[in-house]
Amino acid sequence: MNTIPLGSTDLRVTRLCYGAMRIAGSWNREKVDATAIQNGIRILESAVEAGYTFIDHADIYGDTTCESIHGEALKQHPEWREQLVVATKCGIRRADQPTAGLPGRYDFDADYIKQSLDGSLQRLGLDRIDLYQLHRPDWLADPAAIAEALTAIHAAGKVRYFGVSNFRPSLVSAVQSVLPFPLVSNQVEIHLRRLAVFEDGTLDQCLEKKMTPLAWSPLAQGRLGASLDENAALPKDPADVEVVERLRPILRDIAEAYHVSPLAVVMAWLMRHPSGIIPIVGTTRPEAIKAAAQADTITLDRVSWYRILIAARGRNME
Ligand SMILES: NC(=O)c1ccc[n+]([C@@H]2O[C@H](COP(=O)([O-])OP(=O)(O)OC[C@H]3O[C@@H](n4cnc5c(N)ncnc54)[C@H](OP(=O)(O)O)[C@@H]3O)[C@@H](O)[C@H]2O)c1
Repeated sequence: MNTIPLGSTDLRVTRLCYGAMRIAGSWNREKVDATAIQNGIRILESAVEAGYTFIDHADIYGDTTCESIHGEALKQHPEWREQLVVATKCGIRRADQPTAGLPGRYDFDADYIKQSLDGSLQRLGLDRIDLYQLHRPDWLADPAAIAEALTAIHAAGKVRYFGVSNFRPSLVSAVQSVLPFPLVSNQVEIHLRRLAVFEDGTLDQCLEKKMTPLAWSPLAQGRLGASLDENAALPKDPADVEVVERLRPILRDIAEAYHVSPLAVVMAWLMRHPSGIIPIVGTTRPEAIKAAAQADTITLDRVSWYRILIAARGRNME
């Protein structure tokens, strides 16, 4: 796979990222036993073997166990310390944390950001995170408190670069205005069932600020899986079914024309945008992880790109 700089940084990453959200097989830490840990390590190994060098985590994935699995994998693969660019996130507090009865909530208080980072570093077995992201906008987000935390973390050498996730452009600007260094990425939901970022200013801002958009759930949490495989079960939501049925023949034809898998076409569709979208691949099956990586070998032509968009929208361009 080719590598590219992440935003305006010296981090060189593959054009697809592997997302570790599903590697533990559960969001309940009680269920993540030794077998699940070994399975998670094997999934990460298959991503590295397929050429991915950019891995996305969050402290909440698997209730912290996904980061711990990565830490265990590093013991077996110390070379990954140099080889992989590791991203993680903070700011979502699940219900009953740290004590029973508390509601799920967001938290960008300076102390919580700093404390979360130390937990991630410990679980991942790293001295420094390459990309640290604020996961979801705290409704009480205070740019000054965020800047205080990120500046202290940066000065301590614990993080190389910072990004955000699910931020609207105006909040990116508010935080950026008080930060002494640039935010390099915005991780947002982008896929053929979620096209809002093309029109709401999110991608425009990435173009202007040279931030890299990281596209989460590129298959709409799997709801688009059936558009890649004629034999796959259709999604439950009738609105998804309509899109899947329109996309199926188009993705099949374009995949044949480019000699890649339909999964690679879906990823290549995202990567074609001039902002340099990096899709975060989430499948846990080694063959699909590898098939997605074929996206890096093609550049979709404009007509194919628009055919896919029109099928996803269900209407022609005005
Ligand atoms: N920042 C955020 O708020 C946020 C939110 C969500 C996710 N993320 C990031 O985005 C990453 C990817 O999210 P995601 O896992 O939801 O991505 P996705 O690609 O939309 O969904 C992957 C799911 O689709 C299933 N799937 C069904 N048919 C498939 C097919 N034909 N090919 C491939 N997969 C198929 C996979 O099952 P199999 O495993 O059985 O293939 C897997 O469960 C996460 O790991 C995380 O890093 C970020």
